Amino acid sequence: MKLTEFKDPLPIPPVLKPRWKSGEYTYYEITMKETQQLLHSELPKTTIWGYEGIYPGPTIEVETGERVYVKWKNELPERHLLPIDHTVHGAEKEKPAVRTVVHLHGGRTEPNSDGYPDAWFTKGFIVKGPFFQKEIYHYINQQSARTLWYHDHAIGLTRLNIYAGLAGFYFIRNSHERSFNLPSGPFEVPLLLQDRSFHVDGSLSYPEQPENNGSGIYPSIIASFFGNTILVNGKVWPFLEVEPRKYRFRLLNAANARFFRLTLDSGQLFYQIGTDSGFLERPIGVGSLLLAPAERLDVIINFSNMEGKSIVVKNDAPTHFPNGDPVDPKTTGIVMEFRVSQPLSGIDTSVIPAYMGPIKWLHANTAQRQRFLELSEEKDQFGRSLFLLDKKTWDDPITENPLAHSTEIWSFINTNEDDHPIHVHLVQFQILERRAFNVEYYKKTKHIKYTGAPIQPDFSERGWKDTVRCPPGLVTSIIIPFFPYTGQYVWHCHMLEHEDYEMMRPYRVLPPP
Ligand code: C2O
Ligand code: CU
Repeated sequence: MKLTEFKDPLPIPPVLKPRWKSGEYTYYEITMKETQQLLHSELPKTTIWGYEGIYPGPTIEVETGERVYVKWKNELPERHLLPIDHTVHGAEKEKPAVRTVVHLHGGRTEPNSDGYPDAWFTKGFIVKGPFFQKEIYHYINQQSARTLWYHDHAIGLTRLNIYAGLAGFYFIRNSHERSFNLPSGPFEVPLLLQDRSFHVDGSLSYPEQPENNGSGIYPSIIASFFGNTILVNGKVWPFLEVEPRKYRFRLLNAANARFFRLTLDSGQLFYQIGTDSGFLERPIGVGSLLLAPAERLDVIINFSNMEGKSIVVKNDAPTHFPNGDPVDPKTTGIVMEFRVSQPLSGIDTSVIPAYMGPIKWLHANTAQRQRFLELSEEKDQFGRSLFLLDKKTWDDPITENPLAHSTEIWSFINTNEDDHPIHVHLVQFQILERRAFNVEYYKKTKHIKYTGAPIQPDFSERGWKDTVRCPPGLVTSIIIPFFPYTGQYVWHCHMLEHEDYEMMRPYRVLPPP
């Protein structure tokens, strides 16, 4: 069964209304529910899990400095939609099958509201994980305008809970952003990219057991999930009717493991204005956009003078980036279509700003400490592949314990074949460099012998980030200021099958002496 592409219009997630808003604070309640949703008009309805019962969840929009409280409520059924592997840390048989906890990705959040993986809770907060602290989370939003997103983070279940639909956008806005006169209102469109597979009855398909995995475990976690359809905002291969003018797109890769490398078949450029964590200094014109899981990009596309044209957004990033299978040009190579079919509703006075403001660049010599952390591939006791951080598992004692208000360099030494997007909670960082090294020599001696000169980050990465691609065979170095909170957080690979299966570590920010 092949679903017809560009059959359904792109849905835009609604902006969530607060329950209460005063000059002091804003209060939201967001309930996770199981519902049925039409993900393609040729498919029967799909059972999904959604925040407020929709997939993707509603968009939360806040101002810089707005004090926001959110009560995240779980009203999901007791049975999980998808196959649970009880050999995965934190997903033991004795625990409730349906557990949730919400992380605001990219938020500078106090530890008790950060969605620690062991701070999960069940329906009605009846059963709670060992790190559960409170029912109402607090976000102070002391951050400039940027694209955040919220998603599930329950220990041992994140890949399944997000696959079921638990993800949504969270925008911080401010007057600096408004002063640019960017395309806004109907001309600013969030695009949440994912891949999924379906059974013929429309239900979500997630492998119960990898073929030839030989582990004897059933259901068994897989090394990484790749679906055979691409969805944008919860629709398979949608189209968007646009006017001949500039549009701003807020892109998020919310896939489990798939990278996207996007191009426009019209040959047009994207004008990138922002990264994970705010604006670039200046816009850049780029022919293709690379997004690893959890990365965001803020881009403008100019459809002026394109009246009557249809423009297809294509993807050519292989699975197991960068070394896996190429995309199928008829399915996973297609993302969505723009149809420049709407009449211009008014003069387009929006601009691509020439300059968005200075970024305070951090220099390596301002760091108090450098940590070298290997990203390695091992085998578990069942012969399945297991990716580790610094050869440690989730339950090993904490080893990363930076001091609050200190700056550190973390250098990720990737000795395996996959590019891993590493995300550190609480902080934003800058990429210093990537550098090729002799992998075999490192594995034998634990010494780095560089084989090339330092490579500067891509132009698209020259801004603040919270997720960094760590390609195979390179040492990727980032510089991180740790503030303002002390307490326990996590850092991990954002390929969800990796983070669920040991490629995640707790870390602790210590009070300064
Ligand atoms: Cu987007 Cu720890 O997660
Ligand atoms: Cu990984």
